[in-house]
Amino acid sequence: SEDAVKAMKQQVGIAAAQRVQSGSIVGLGTGSTTAFAIEHLGDRLKSGDLKDIKGIPTSFQASVLAKKYGIPLVTLDDVEKIDIAIDGADEVDPNKVLIKGGGAAHTREKIVDSLADVFIVVVDSTKLVETLGSTFPLPVEVLPVAVSPVTRALEALGGKPELRMGVKKDGPVITDQGNMILDVTFGSIPNPAEFEKTLNNIPGVLDNGLFVGLADVVLVGEIKEGQPIVR
Ligand code: A5P
Repeated sequence: SEDAVKAMKQQVGIAAAQRVQSGSIVGLGTGSTTAFAIEHLGDRLKSGDLKDIKGIPTSFQASVLAKKYGIPLVTLDDVEKIDIAIDGADEVDPNKVLIKGGGAAHTREKIVDSLADVFIVVVDSTKLVETLGSTFPLPVEVLPVAVSPVTRALEALGGKPELRMGVKKDGPVITDQGNMILDVTFGSIPNPAEFEKTLNNIPGVLDNGLFVGLADVVLVGEIKEGQPIVR
């Protein structure tokens, strides 16, 4: 149920925030699961359990939440590395390879998550898959002028691209960077490491939602005997 998924997300978000130590530079991911982690970081700062952290947001939404919960922010110009990043995912395979970008934030998320010494992925158990691409279309951020040629290039690679449309907006979703998103159904993505590069090699593509070799820890929220737990 929706309530169960929310409980799993909250539990796993809190578990990730518990791993952050005082004095850390923290990558703040995007999405409903990471939102619980950001809130808990704020709670820990307020209680004095955690001191002197600085956040690097991965999106406009993450920076709004960080401000709301009292987490001071810095930019990538202010730091040389990130100690720990917490971020959600749309699919996670058994090799800790991810599909991200359900919130259209994957390009900036990949920059921040890849700079982290430790990248913790927070998901509920519905995100676990055997083969990537089987439940979630792959998000590809595209420069607006290149949407038509990139669409054709993705079709030539066997994908079915769909321009992501706004929910409360007429016309396409515009990313924080002013670009558009093609959600591409491939059915399965057997070789994500190579495929990530192939897609990013198409002129006009900024980045795609495949995250290969970046996740260090995957925390999974699940329901056991009626209670949300993390493993
Ligand atoms: C944002 O673009 C995504 O990469 C999110 O991290 C991902 O969609 C997970 O979101 P939820 O935690 O809301 O499921």
